[in-house]
Amino acid sequence: METGRDLVIAIDGPAASGKSTVAIELARRLGLSLVDSGSMYRAVTLVALEREVPFDAEDPLREVAEWVSANFRMETPVDDAPRVFLADREVTDEIRSSEVGKAVSPVSAVPGVRDEMVRLQRCLGGPGGAVVEGRDIGTAVFPEAPLKVFLEAPADERSCRRFEELRGKGGNATLEEVEAEIAKRDSIDSSREHSPLSRAPDALLIDTSGIGVGDVVDAIISALRERGLIS
Ligand code: DC
Repeated sequence: METGRDLVIAIDGPAASGKSTVAIELARRLGLSLVDSGSMYRAVTLVALEREVPFDAEDPLREVAEWVSANFRMETPVDDAPRVFLADREVTDEIRSSEVGKAVSPVSAVPGVRDEMVRLQRCLGGPGGAVVEGRDIGTAVFPEAPLKVFLEAPADERSCRRFEELRGKGGNATLEEVEAEIAKRDSIDSSREHSPLSRAPDALLIDTSGIGVGDVVDAIISALRERGLIS
């Protein structure tokens, strides 16, 4: 498949809407790099928790974000899940812990943290093109992206997905706890002052309930072809 040089595809949506799985598969099929912005905010949150930085301490949190920005690295093996590193330390599993999950929305609402992470996302997503996924990619990070996609699914379906995903990894949270965490994250992510989760008016809206990943990726590839962005 021929892709234009520097093609950026923005994929946004709420927690557990299927963004990560779709973005990984799309990047593989198009041979583009993957920028998972949620992992960056999770990495900042992990380090803030470890350094016991309060979630309302803007300057110390910005310093943590600067450190993460300088040390963040993601590997995307062809036949395995992406792996996240801070310098030489692998944090792939730690950034998915429920402690980080509970704290990531307040930490990522801090403007200094967002400024630093957006800089990193533009740096990694610009040259050579990329599939960039998150909450504000089409609205704030790459508003000029030639294709923006917004994935959504009802909250109960997203909670079931996340519940099964956590159980598969040996987690013991109840469905009720997962529902409460997703509802809280949706609320903080959508109502924060600085670049909240919202759909860009020109984004392609795909409801992922009951549809397989392959079908969602096919729909995105068709949209790219229709727009002449790939051949
Ligand atoms: O995609 P995820 O669930 O890993 O994202 C974790 C959190 O990071 C999410 O609840 C809010 C924050 N986030 C953000 O504020 N902006 C982004 N572009 C991506 C994630």
